[in-house]
Amino acid sequence: VKVYTSEMEASTEVAAHISRIIKKNSESGKNTKLGLATGSTPILLYKELVRLHKKEGLSFKNVISFNLDEYYPMSPDASQSYVKFMNEHLFDHVDIPEENIHIPDGTLPKSKIHEYCLSYEQKINELGGLDLQILGIGRTGHIGFNEPGSAPNSGTRLVNLDDLTRRDASREFGGKENVPTKAITMGIGTIFKAKEIILMAWSKKKASIIKKAVEGRVSGSVPATYLQHAENVEIILDKAAASEL
Ligand code: GLP
Repeated sequence: VKVYTSEMEASTEVAAHISRIIKKNSESGKNTKLGLATGSTPILLYKELVRLHKKEGLSFKNVISFNLDEYYPMSPDASQSYVKFMNEHLFDHVDIPEENIHIPDGTLPKSKIHEYCLSYEQKINELGGLDLQILGIGRTGHIGFNEPGSAPNSGTRLVNLDDLTRRDASREFGGKENVPTKAITMGIGTIFKAKEIILMAWSKKKASIIKKAVEGRVSGSVPATYLQHAENVEIILDKAAASEL
């Protein structure tokens, strides 16, 4: 666990770390496979990565990205889609090739989802796994959209969203009743295969779930507690999110 004085300072630090990984891999002709998250938590991180691209020549040409999750159903053009979010906050502002971007497809018919999820997982494996997975945390203790009850070896799949998660998303959707009841998410098992995992959390709002995730008993009722068993995990917090530790 690392505690920073501000979200800004922490995000800048994580961006510098990502930049070092990308540069090191690029120098030896290798791609960097990044697992990316959405939500308010990584916004400053993406802003800093865009700054590093524009001002310091950080290139994303050799980056291959896999996003954690997407609501289901969800059109990529909808204002709440994670496709839209990623374009707005990162992809539209850097030189990542479009074919290198992977975000779970919220438009598929239900009958195709199982196969699609297996192929999403397989693509990551075929590329040799993720170099780094970025995570936020939901107030249910979810990582990605792995809600309470998720198994530690779960793979990419269609899941039901927790009531609290839907309540937390209600502002973006103009009411909880408009928040999709389902999502496609990488599994806990998928996340654990990454060489390195960085979970970030900011503000007092996250303090109690961070306490549970870091100090609580490992249990499926708070999926983020599984991270206590993972190697190469860093929990990056601001002072407020760390205030109950
Ligand atoms: C959503 C995302 C999660 C994210 C969580 C926290 O549910 N699917 O990946 O970690 O929100 O959101 P925020 O960062 O806005 O607090």
